[in-house]
Amino acid sequence: MVSHNVFGFSQFLLLDTMDNTSLIEKAIEARNNAYAPYSNHKVGAVVVTETGALFTGCNIENCAFLGECAERVAIYKALSEGAKKIVKLVVVTANKELSAPCGICRQVIREFNPKIEIVIANTDKKFKVLTLEELLPHSFGPESFRQGQGS
Ligand code: THU
Repeated sequence: MVSHNVFGFSQFLLLDTMDNTSLIEKAIEARNNAYAPYSNHKVGAVVVTETGALFTGCNIENCAFLGECAERVAIYKALSEGAKKIVKLVVVTANKELSAPCGICRQVIREFNPKIEIVIANTDKKFKVLTLEELLPHSFGPESFRQGQGS
């Protein structure tokens, strides 16, 4: 069954009609919830899942410096609600020079779709579209793991 959002549109339709600028605006809203008193670097993210559902995230730090990145918060929210695949990730910072997800996030993103589209953006809504292959070439994946098993 196709689920519907509050406006009555199907989530599939929502994915088609949500352009990068609208997704960036959603990530900016999520960024407003960032808890980053130690780094002062606020990050917001949105993931779009295979069904077109949207999940937001922001970075959440703590005094032991064991914080979570916005990207992983958004991805884990999606997965814990039943998503199996993420098809698009949008990340927003206030950086004039756009910044891309950290190494740990890249590996997590890779796990849930090596062909994902990644949009890095800033609060001025400047953006660039990247592939995971560009961010994590020659990546380690489930296939590499299984190849060595049993020998
Ligand atoms: N951060 C993210 O949220 N995403 C990234 O890809 C890079 C870093 C957060 C983690 C930490 O709260 C702050 O930015 C500074 O590293």
